[in-house]
Amino acid sequence: MSDSAVTGETVLIKNVLLYGEGDPTDVLLGDGVIVAIGADAGTDSGPDVEVIDAAGQILLPGFVDLHTHLREPGREDTETIDSGSAAAALGGYTAVFAMANTSPVADSVVVTDHVWRRGQEVGLVDVHPVGAVTVGLEGKQLAEMATMASGIGRVRMFSDDGHCVYDPLIMRRALEYSSSLGVLIAQHAEEPRLTVGAVAHEGPTAARLGLAGWPRAAEESIVARDALLARDAGARVHICHASTAGTVELMKWARGQGISITAEVTPHHLLLDDSRLETYDAVNKVNPPLREASDVAALRAGLAEGIIDCVATDHAPHAEQDKCCEFAAARPGMLGLETALSIVAQTMVRTGLLDWRGVARVMSERPAAIVGLDDQGRPIEVGEPANLVLIDPDAEWTVHGPDLASVAHNTPYESMTLPARVTTTILRGRITASDGQARVPVRNGRG
Ligand code: NCD
Ligand code: ZN
Repeated sequence: MSDSAVTGETVLIKNVLLYGEGDPTDVLLGDGVIVAIGADAGTDSGPDVEVIDAAGQILLPGFVDLHTHLREPGREDTETIDSGSAAAALGGYTAVFAMANTSPVADSVVVTDHVWRRGQEVGLVDVHPVGAVTVGLEGKQLAEMATMASGIGRVRMFSDDGHCVYDPLIMRRALEYSSSLGVLIAQHAEEPRLTVGAVAHEGPTAARLGLAGWPRAAEESIVARDALLARDAGARVHICHASTAGTVELMKWARGQGISITAEVTPHHLLLDDSRLETYDAVNKVNPPLREASDVAALRAGLAEGIIDCVATDHAPHAEQDKCCEFAAARPGMLGLETALSIVAQTMVRTGLLDWRGVARVMSERPAAIVGLDDQGRPIEVGEPANLVLIDPDAEWTVHGPDLASVAHNTPYESMTLPARVTTTILRGRITASDGQARVPVRNGRG
């Protein structure tokens, strides 16, 4: 233990299982880092320590979400950096990447720096801005990536998400440029010519229900193309929200070729399939669409094997009038931040596909590594930044949209009872969420 007593805000977590393994132990946090681990960890903690009795709970590194829509600026009626940060903290996240499809689009350093600054003011989670690849997400002209990368928000990931960078020449240039800048391009893989008018997965269910189909090939053809473009550019490419068995096969092939390609899967594509469409409830409308049970199985297996690198929420708040309407007219997207851990527990842990160390890998370590965050997804060891999440693996809870911190309520898990719950989230040693309440920092004082 240290020679001097710990100063500043200190937190002592007692009787916790690190990564869900071994014997319960104590972890002392102070000055934003892990100060001590072990039975005597609390010895020097001083009188002001906040003690958490974490018996039966699991400690993991805080989660990192590579794909979040926070809707600020432009659609603050559905989410703000404030409300989205609370949702993130409650979901166990210590860093999120806010997608660029805001209004105005985050294709300039003015917007990306605003997003970063606002996130820091709120103080519940690090909100990293994603910059647009092309001006206005129009796919025609590269945005000023270098300027955004060197701004205060230090943009390290670029994506036209919501839209595919469909022009192969623009994508090729973006990849070349990104590798010289040392940033990541994340692709929303959707060949737009194959999805004109599409609202649901192309298959027997959509055919029967009379919904226009979004074929798997629209995703897979772009994944294959971009793997080849990344190979030739010597660049890295990241695939957003992988949704088909074929994408998993293509990822396996590309990795085998030594191509630098990574991919994420959303919680909803790990749990739900297109049988949900029977009700025509647009809460189930999302891009890419909910696929078939065989795709769900392949995505789970791909995540377990590491072919799909990580889980990203694609948290996509939408206003009631944009969801509670005719299926074809509704906007695609669903909430995800507060339910992600529970869906991963249900689909991957309860099924025996991942243990809790595996959850740390797919929800924290891999996403942090993919985007190059050196303070997140770190091992739980003395001296490391105290970005952490406590989980009660035995808790069960029932989802109610209006109870979630998001402004919008479009959760596909309404009234479902889910396993596992985040009890506490800690950002740089400060508790940001505890027992279902976000804890906003107290300014100029102790939080
Ligand atoms: C996202 C949104 O609403 O911004 N919608 C969605 O269905 N996933 C955009 C996106 O991630 O493609
Ligand atoms: Zn997308």
